Amino acid sequence: MKTLSDLLAEGVSGRRVLVRADLNVPLDGDTITDDGRVRASVPTLSALAEAGARVIVVAHLGRPKGEPDPKFSLAPVAARLGELLGTEVALASDVVGDSAKSVVEGLADGGVALLENIRFDARETSKDAAQRGALADELVALTGEDGAFVSDGFGVVHRAQASVYDVATKLPHYAGGLVLAEVEVLRKLTDDLQRPYVVVLGGAKVSDKLGVIANLLGKVDRLLVGGGMAYTFLKAQGHEVGNSLLQADQLDQVRGFLAEAQERGVELVLPVDVLAATGFAADAEHEVVDATAIPADREGLDIGPRTRELFASKLADAATVFWNGPMGVFEFEAFAGGTRAVAEALVASDAFTVVGGGDSAAAVRALGLPEDGFSHISTGGGASLEYLEGKELPGVAVLETP
Ligand code: 3PG
Repeated sequence: MKTLSDLLAEGVSGRRVLVRADLNVPLDGDTITDDGRVRASVPTLSALAEAGARVIVVAHLGRPKGEPDPKFSLAPVAARLGELLGTEVALASDVVGDSAKSVVEGLADGGVALLENIRFDARETSKDAAQRGALADELVALTGEDGAFVSDGFGVVHRAQASVYDVATKLPHYAGGLVLAEVEVLRKLTDDLQRPYVVVLGGAKVSDKLGVIANLLGKVDRLLVGGGMAYTFLKAQGHEVGNSLLQADQLDQVRGFLAEAQERGVELVLPVDVLAATGFAADAEHEVVDATAIPADREGLDIGPRTRELFASKLADAATVFWNGPMGVFEFEAFAGGTRAVAEALVASDAFTVVGGGDSAAAVRALGLPEDGFSHISTGGGASLEYLEGKELPGVAVLETP
């Protein structure tokens, strides 16, 4: 696989280089609430700009319906990227139309421009390869003679989409610094694993994690389950969960996981107590109850204090830890304690600790924990989970083809 260093060695001065970045950040109106992905994109972009490339950044935001929608404009991202790069980042008002062409024409050596949300064009996510190929051709045309493609949007490499996959089949392609760093870390979790290996999973839905649980049961020494998904496990064990999140259609599957964990000798650790609240609100009344005795009119919004200690003790002797998904509704201060406790246990640990993207990475930053207290905070939620599921990541595989 060719990398950014190979491209820099070839020379990029004056060349137009298309970079796929993952700048899909959480927004509150126009305000970016966690700019981790924008910051993570900077090293590759500055290396190219400093070497004199004319950098065209392609990215998506959210899931618009294949047509322009101001709610999903990359304008706040262009502004933040410009601040971080210390240069103005021109934002095209379309994807591959007149504005994109003129913004690209106007790029000087070392300049950086951002195309509007690539998902405003329905061909980006089309299942029809010809449609995606046509959009990729238009992206390639923007680079003109001697163009190159750098894939640096690790968070989106699990998507076989036009700007992630197809464009790499049409231009000389290189893995950016972020993609390389992320893949190297994930390989340590699969090919070069130090034990005990403990995985902590949380988040709302067990259905999002089926593949990864199935695969991890054959690999981990311990699996700690918290967050909304834990209630489906508790129910599968025969406990009442009140109004807590429950995916009743997953109960059989979860019973299967519980049985398999036992057969394989994997310690599957569930909450022993929870914060049971009267409703889903920041100021909801709540009390600590046993996980096996959640009152019918209450819902669990966080793991309780005994569970925090239990999880910390199960993490204490780990050599490798992967954590994905919050333990509770960390956005509400009253229910952030469980997520904070797991994060703190990772910071205190000497293990190789990886935070798997998405909400857990945002939680680490929102709770003010030191980012350098973890071995790696991934920018890829779905992408890192799919890797750990053992699936091929199309956006990485395509970089391996000459
Ligand atoms: C993510 O947020 O996980 C990536 O940006 C991919 O987004 P998607 O799930 O909408 O494809």
